[in-house]
Amino acid sequence: MILNASGCLDALTAPEVAHTLDVFVTKTVTPLPREGNQPVRIAETDFGMLNSIGLANPGIDRFVADTLPRLLDLGVSVWVSVGGFAAHEYAEICARLDHEPIAAIELNVSCPNVSSPEEEVEQIVAAARAATTKTLYAKLSPSVPDVGAAAVAAARAGADGLTLVNTIRGLALDELTLEPKLGPGVGGLSGPALRPIALAAVFAAYRATGLPIVGVGGVETGAHGLELIAAGASAFALGTVLFADPEAPVRVREELEREASARGFATPLAAYAAAHGGPPPTPLRRVA
Ligand SMILES: Cc1cc2nc3c(=O)[nH]c(=O)nc-3n(C[C@H](O)[C@H](O)[C@H](O)COP(=O)(O)O)c2cc1C
Repeated sequence: MILNASGCLDALTAPEVAHTLDVFVTKTVTPLPREGNQPVRIAETDFGMLNSIGLANPGIDRFVADTLPRLLDLGVSVWVSVGGFAAHEYAEICARLDHEPIAAIELNVSCPNVSSPEEEVEQIVAAARAATTKTLYAKLSPSVPDVGAAAVAAARAGADGLTLVNTIRGLALDELTLEPKLGPGVGGLSGPALRPIALAAVFAAYRATGLPIVGVGGVETGAHGLELIAAGASAFALGTVLFADPEAPVRVREELEREASARGFATPLAAYAAAHGGPPPTPLRRVA
C-alpha cells in the first residue's frame, strides 16, 4: 500500500496524483484555523528539505464542511491527520470525524514545529481512542530517546497502527548573510537524510509492538520502500519526493514489484520484516 505523507500533497489541486495512491492522507487538521508560521517556510539543504509550515490549516469546522466532502468526492480512500495542543483537542476532532466515511485517523503527535508533545503520546492516543471507533494510527517523531518505548505507549493506549517518522529539527543558514533561511529559524528536515532514521524507527517499533506500520522518510524509489517493508512496515508513504516528481507513486510502485522479484520475493509484502529474521513479535494490544 502506497500513501502520501501528510502535508506533501494537496489532493484537491492534484487529484490525478491522489488517484495513483492507495490512500490519501490529509494535511494535519487542528481544532481552530491556523495561518501557520511566518515565511520563508521552505528551504533546500544538501540532503533534503527544511519546512516550517507550522500546521497551517482551515480548522476542523471548515475542514468537515468544505474540504472533506470534496476529498471524498474524489473516490480515494481518505485518512485524516489530526493535531492539537492537548489530548482533549485530539479527542474533540476524533469525535467530529467518527461518523465521516473516512478510512482512518492519523494522530500527528510529532510535529517538531510546535511545542512537542511526544511525552504525551499515551494520553493523546488514549483520549482519541475513547472518542472514536475509527482505525487510529499514531504518527511518531524519531526525535525521542527511545522510539520503541513511544511505540509501546501508543499501542497500549489503543493505537491500531503507527506511522514512522515525522521530520527532525534542522537549521539552514543563508550562505552570504549567515542568517536562518526559514522565517522561524529552525524547521523540520525531510527527504533523503531521513531514510536511515526512518528505517531504524520502523525496525525498533516493529520489534517493540508488532503493530502495522506506515514507513515514511526519504522514500524516492521502490528499493527504498522495500527496505522499509523489510524493516517492519506494512505500507509506506511518499513525502518530499512528490514535490519534485508528482509521478513518483506510479514509478515507485513499478520499481517496488521489480526490486522485490529481483530479490526472490513473490510480492513486495513477502519481504515484510525480512530484516528481523526469527518469529514475529506478538502484537501489543490496548491495556484494558
Ligand atoms: C511541506 C511539508 C509539510 C508537512 N506537513 C505535515 C503535516 O501537516 N502533518 C504531518 O504529520 N507531517 C507533515 N509533514 C511531514 C511528512 O508527512 C513526513 O513525515 C516527512 O516529510 C518525512 O517524509 P519524507 O522524507 O518522505 O518527506 C510535512 C512535510 C513537509 C515536507
